[in-house]
Amino acid sequence: MAAEPLLITGGRIIDPGTGTDAVGDLLLIDGRVAVPGARTATAARTIDARGLVVAPGLIDLHTHLREPGQEYKETIASGTRAAARGGFTTVCAMPNTDPAIDNRAVVEYIQRTAAEVAAARVLVTGAITRGRAGKQLAEMGELAAAGCIGFSDDGTYVVDSGLMRHALEYARALGLPVLDHAEDPVIAAGGVMHEGWVATRLGLKGTPAAAEEAAVARDLQLAALTGGHIHIQHVSTAGAVDLVRTAKARGVPVTAEVTPHHLTLTHEAVLGRDTAPYDTSCRVNPPLRTDRDVEACIDGLRDGTIDAVATDHAPHATTDKLCEFDLAAPGLTGLETALALVLRLVHAGRISFAEALARLTCGPARALRLAERTGLTGLGTLAAGAPADVVVIDPDRIWTVQPAALASKGKNTPFDGWQLTGQVLVTVASGTVTYNALEN
Ligand code: NCD
Repeated sequence: MAAEPLLITGGRIIDPGTGTDAVGDLLLIDGRVAVPGARTATAARTIDARGLVVAPGLIDLHTHLREPGQEYKETIASGTRAAARGGFTTVCAMPNTDPAIDNRAVVEYIQRTAAEVAAARVLVTGAITRGRAGKQLAEMGELAAAGCIGFSDDGTYVVDSGLMRHALEYARALGLPVLDHAEDPVIAAGGVMHEGWVATRLGLKGTPAAAEEAAVARDLQLAALTGGHIHIQHVSTAGAVDLVRTAKARGVPVTAEVTPHHLTLTHEAVLGRDTAPYDTSCRVNPPLRTDRDVEACIDGLRDGTIDAVATDHAPHATTDKLCEFDLAAPGLTGLETALALVLRLVHAGRISFAEALARLTCGPARALRLAERTGLTGLGTLAAGAPADVVVIDPDRIWTVQPAALASKGKNTPFDGWQLTGQVLVTVASGTVTYNALEN
């Protein structure tokens, strides 16, 4: 179904992918960005974006949509509604569903359901190993043929180094990346938060930074050995940032992402803000780390060591979190707070607006070569002919995070009650308006 032409007028168009930062109009026709100055045969629907920022739709490399199998936590419909409200037009669904995305039938189920109900483009990642059990490789060729954009056992590390080597070899032959949940479970040894003084005070078992760094180090060596592309998911420690930086300088095929929460919170957030001894919404993998780690992640984001901000949107039901800290399901709902959390860094003068947008648009697209893989030339940019994926942002609007108001079924956010600056007003995916606060 071709969407009607849409004209977005008078906004400040910031498109890091094409180096654009100028006030102007943007015309979307037939699901694509029109050449500048083009006109429509019919009258276009108009959005007045004066005083607002117009940018490419955001791309999330790390989204848990929970369907199939855990629809009480999230569905493809609710998760992509949350994506649209957060300004995202493309999300990469993680394979830790039930059943796992380790065969063509599950990939096709997600693609079919998304085509019917999704408010964002859903790209699918396949599992590295069967059932994500870490024992045998999944049918990676079948998953690639079904359209998967990469492989991940997210939520679990592939402990068997020989298997990971083979995964990288097959992925390389298939021209796809391996997305790495880098946490050595033997070192982590059942830790539920960062190993440090907060864990000691709370009497909780900690996971040292070395669990992540040892895992990253091994996989960088395997990427160097095989030539396979490794993408380090949710980098959280200063040491891991350094490892990626050094590997990139050596020419290892590596890319990396960081989450908004690892750019914002430290392990001290686990202490909570009220009378409860701890805040289970801060239980997340990898765990929230120290100030030094947060600073290193911001530095890595700024200098390009880290290619993308990815949400690791991990919605859970209230009952999954209303329990002891070590029994709480790890993860937090992230799609609807991501942009405003990254904009905190802009408002604090840590990174520029264009840099922030780059890590949410062309950065993720380039990191996983999504334009080539999907055949959507220009994905992640507003170049003429690119998919008509656009977000209109009020960078100065102050709003308060209210879990009940989130479109996601997951209300598990440590940012409950936070005042954030910068809000998505309109999202357009493939030329269709998927969210419009201006009409509310
Ligand atoms: C993820 C989830 O809930 O699927 N949780 C999280 O804390 N990031 C899986 C995982 O990476 O552990």
